[in-house]
Amino acid sequence: MKIQRFSKIGFILAAAGSAVGLGNIWKFPYMTGEYGGGAFVAVYLITIAFIGFAVMIAEMLIGALGRADTVTSFERVAPKKKEWWRFAGFMGFNGIIIMTFYSVVIGWIFYYLFLVFGGLPQSTQEAKGIFNDLVANQVLIQIFFHTVAVILVGYIVYRGIKGGIEKINLILMPALMIILFGLLLYAFSLEGFSKALKFMFEPRWEDLNSEAFIRAIGHSFFTLSLGMGAIMTYAASLPKDASIPKTAFIVTFMDTLIALVAGLVIFSFLFEFGAQPSQGPGLVFISLPTILNNFGTLGTVFAFLFFLALAFAGITSAISLVEPVVQYLIDRFKFTRAKAVIVISLVYWIVGIGAILSYSNAWGKIFSIGGKPLFDILEYTTDSILLPLGGFLIAVFVGYVLQKERAYKYVGKEMGRRAFLIWRFSIRYIAPLALIFMMLNLMGIIKI
Ligand code: TRP
Repeated sequence: MKIQRFSKIGFILAAAGSAVGLGNIWKFPYMTGEYGGGAFVAVYLITIAFIGFAVMIAEMLIGALGRADTVTSFERVAPKKKEWWRFAGFMGFNGIIIMTFYSVVIGWIFYYLFLVFGGLPQSTQEAKGIFNDLVANQVLIQIFFHTVAVILVGYIVYRGIKGGIEKINLILMPALMIILFGLLLYAFSLEGFSKALKFMFEPRWEDLNSEAFIRAIGHSFFTLSLGMGAIMTYAASLPKDASIPKTAFIVTFMDTLIALVAGLVIFSFLFEFGAQPSQGPGLVFISLPTILNNFGTLGTVFAFLFFLALAFAGITSAISLVEPVVQYLIDRFKFTRAKAVIVISLVYWIVGIGAILSYSNAWGKIFSIGGKPLFDILEYTTDSILLPLGGFLIAVFVGYVLQKERAYKYVGKEMGRRAFLIWRFSIRYIAPLALIFMMLNLMGIIKI
């Protein structure tokens, strides 16, 4: 199986495109709001620097050494017990589970792209009404936009690494950055900007409860796309002369920067008109459009650009969720790319419809288990169990199973001896412990 290679910039933007997603622009700001601001941001930044970055390097390393789908890469790179390590490669399938709800949210964003032109809501009440009505009653509209997302993402993946994934990232990532930094420039001029800065960067440690702490760690993995073989799959197409530590650094940096910028933009607008930051997942669908209404026509333009950036971020992440399993079916079962895309898209399209129905008034009960909607179950399973487990396996594999000299040859030489030892320490001790600890906490098995 011949694997296509990204160009250097193509790889960086594709990996950054995977990392920068709904997690950065939708989830990070609302979590920061919910968990009290600065202290949450501080834990998030520390985890990214000391754990996320290290695991990112490890994931890239496995992909670059294996040069295949996740299952084959683990198998090839493992020095012994190959037939066992193969199973770690099935972490690629988590992407499909994530896609079941990720695609639904992308669908909501598409819907809002149209909605903003009908005028922004006058009050939070009205905005809440619109969002809740969409989720609870407008099943067909949601299915329609979910389907659009599935087809769009499927088509890009079908076009392959060079002609689809690299190409779309080369366009959408710069566009996304231009929009966000443009909005940031405007936000500078607002009174709310200094309040936003203070809210996000002044850690009030007394606000940090144990839940916020765990959620910050969890989010730092989600936002970097770690623990399911997305970065690993892309790294199988890493250009030959690219440096893994450097590339991982740029991707981690871009992802963090964009989350912080998105947070600053949103909170500047919110604080300008005295809105509360702690409004949960509805923050960008409810509070933001309402606040932007105060800016008149300009507000409509801002809202449109904001949802456009959100859509771009979502699409470039979604393709990285689908590509690992597509690659696996092509490599191992000799599927054509078209067939692999169709089979996988059908699976998550159908489960995604179940997720939509699980939030609806009419069908909610049928699509819930133990009172929990399917949507939440899917999200919880991936966030709290599968991704940390995947991250744990990656860290253990690179830290204990892969020969040290081999790791040194591919990442150590570049970093220098001291940085290499620090990285290895993180991969061997800090990352696995933090991940297991987080997983047990989220599953309610231990409590801090
Ligand atoms: N990182 C993306 C976000 O922030 C989501 C994502 C894409 C992801 N690929 C992933 C998360 C792989 C975990 C693993 O929205």
